[in-house]
Amino acid sequence: MNNKKILIAYYSYSGNTKRVAAKIQNITNGDIFEIIPKKEYPRNYNEAVNVAQEEKQKDIKPELIDNGNIKDYDIIFIGTPVWWYTMAGPVKTFLSKNDFTGKTIIPFCTHGGGGASSTYADMQNLAKGAEITEGYTSYENSAKDTEIADWINKLKL
Ligand SMILES: Cc1cc2nc3c(=O)[nH]c(=O)nc-3n(C[C@H](O)[C@H](O)[C@H](O)COP(=O)(O)O)c2cc1C
Repeated sequence: MNNKKILIAYYSYSGNTKRVAAKIQNITNGDIFEIIPKKEYPRNYNEAVNVAQEEKQKDIKPELIDNGNIKDYDIIFIGTPVWWYTMAGPVKTFLSKNDFTGKTIIPFCTHGGGGASSTYADMQNLAKGAEITEGYTSYENSAKDTEIADWINKLKL
């Protein structure tokens, strides 16, 4: 991890992914960037599920308050909840609006029982020039500090 600049970018609807991002930040001391859509998703869970389903079906990439800037970073952790078997829409936008050529992406996600599904493969499709490492996948709010530390150590950044 020596001289490499690290960014931890994440989107979180209900807080689980945000907590994993904070744990990664503690370990790596990277900068943190919260991906925030311009239009908030409904707070009602079922309504949010419906909006997300429509976005997925129509491949909508929702506008963000700030697209972020990854230029100065070598390593970008990218975190998302699993929504409809893939990453959440705002993360699709973030990947599409930045140039990941030559960057290393370290993905992580939290899910409600279905696992990562196509999340990591879809990330690679949206960030063609990037190298994507093994990800860290956890159920809801069950991520463990020791597991996260082991995963990061194994990556030998
Ligand atoms: C719109 C929506 C779609 C979801 N789709 C899935 C899914 O396909 N598979 C799954 O395992 N969990 C699914 N979940 C559950 C979330 O992935 C899980 O609760 C996650 O930990 C939430 O992360 P967050 O608190 O950072 O938003 C979905 C949740 C929402 C709100």
